[in-house]
Formats: sequence, C-alpha cells, structure tokens
Amino acid sequence: MEPFELPVGPVLLRPWREDDAEATWAALQDPDIRLWNGSGSASRDDVARMIRGRMDWSTGDHASWAVVDARTGELLGSVSLHSIDPGQEDAEIGYWTSPAARGRGVASLVVDAVCRWAFGALPIDRIELCHAVENRASGRVAEKAGFTCEGRLRRAYRYGDGVKHDELLWSRLSDDPAPALSSRSRRAR
Ligand SMILES: CC(C)(COP(=O)(O)OP(=O)(O)OC[C@H]1O[C@@H](n2cnc3c(N)ncnc32)[C@H](O)[C@@H]1OP(=O)(O)O)[C@@H](O)C(=O)NCCC(=O)NCCS
Repeated sequence: MEPFELPVGPVLLRPWREDDAEATWAALQDPDIRLWNGSGSASRDDVARMIRGRMDWSTGDHASWAVVDARTGELLGSVSLHSIDPGQEDAEIGYWTSPAARGRGVASLVVDAVCRWAFGALPIDRIELCHAVENRASGRVAEKAGFTCEGRLRRAYRYGDGVKHDELLWSRLSDDPAPALSSRSRRAR
C-alpha cells in the first residue's frame, strides 16, 4: 500500500512526515499518552524512528496517519490501523489526540473514518480496539465510533506505568451499522 490522504471534514488524515517529529515528541509528553500509549520513555530518536516506521506502509500490515487540522495543518493526533491480517480478515486500531485537541470528537471521527475506509478498501471484516478498563475516554471513543464491547481481558497488557491492566475488547464488523457522527464532525474545529 502507498500512503495517501483521507480528508474527514474539519480534519485531514495525512501521511506522516519526518518534520512531524518535534510536535509529536511534544504531544507524547502528555501524561495520559505516556500512560495509555506507552510512550513514557520515548526519546526524540525513538519518536523519529516511530515516525519513519509509520511513513513506510510497504509491509502491508499497517496504515498510519497523522491527524491534522484541515485548515491550519496543526498536528492533532495519530490514528493507525495495524496488525492487518488479510488471512484472518482482521486488524486493530490505535490512536491518541493531543491534549489541546480533546473533547471535540476528533478521535471518534477519525476512528470511524479509518474503519469505513478499511472495510471498503481492504479484505477486512473485523477491526478490534482494546483499552485499559480505567481509560474511560477511550471506551467512549470506541462506543461513538460504532464498536461493540465484547468483554474484559484480565491483566492483559502492561501499560506505561509498568502495571498489567485489565482491558476491554471492542470490535466493529464490516456489516455493523456505521455511527452517525456528522454533528460531532462539525464540533471538531
Ligand atoms: C482517548 C482520547 C484518544 C480521546 O480523544 P478525543 O479526541 O477527546 O475523543 P472524542 O472527543 O472523540 O471523545 C472522547 C469522549 O470521551 C469522553 N471522556 C473524556 N474523558 C472521560 C472520562 N474520564 N470518563 C468518561 N468519559 C470521558 C468525552 O466526554 C467524549 O465523549 P462525549 O463526546 O460523549 O462527550 C484522548 O483522550 C487521548 O489521546 N488519551 C490519551 C491516549 C489514549 O488513551 N489513547 C488510546 C489508547 S487505547
């Protein structure tokens, strides 16, 4: 796959660029991203390496975008469809938004947009989303983006605090009803 842009109303999903490193490193200092995306010990070199990995879609196992304000170009967050497995027809989705971009519907808007794109363009029937039980904002994103909660995975994943947390597993299937997020998208400014 070749990286491409996906416009989503007030935000643009665009391929990562090396010059995103500084803004990304700044965003990754946020305590919630350090905890729930495990970026706590990431150095500037780690961030540059991570961005280079997300710029390269040639392995076919992920599609990763920088989420930017469509008008100003400001970096708002990240969304990545990863662990793409054409054999099983499934994939996983991960995301973060910078603190200043939160509460405007950005994460749910882009998660929904990536699901819609994936179900139309890839041999994918199921997308999974996992988050720590305590990360209720992420659960709300899953719910708003049309995912169904399937259950609790006990001591499933070690997060940025070094502790293995219980997680909630959600999925969205290709024939699940898509959420109506148009009013949310208008909220994202
Ligand atoms: C989780 C995260 C991506 C949400 O981003 P966002 O752009 O604010 O998401 P949205 O605006 O689409 O939706 C957030 C929802 O969570 C709700 N929310 C926020 N904090 C909450 C909390 N502590 N408890 C319950 N709900 C909460 C918001 O009210 C909103 O719901 P609403 O629209 O019904 O009011 C962002 O907070 C983040 O990056 N957190 C740190 C990293 C992270 O958790 N990444 C995901 C790992 S699985």
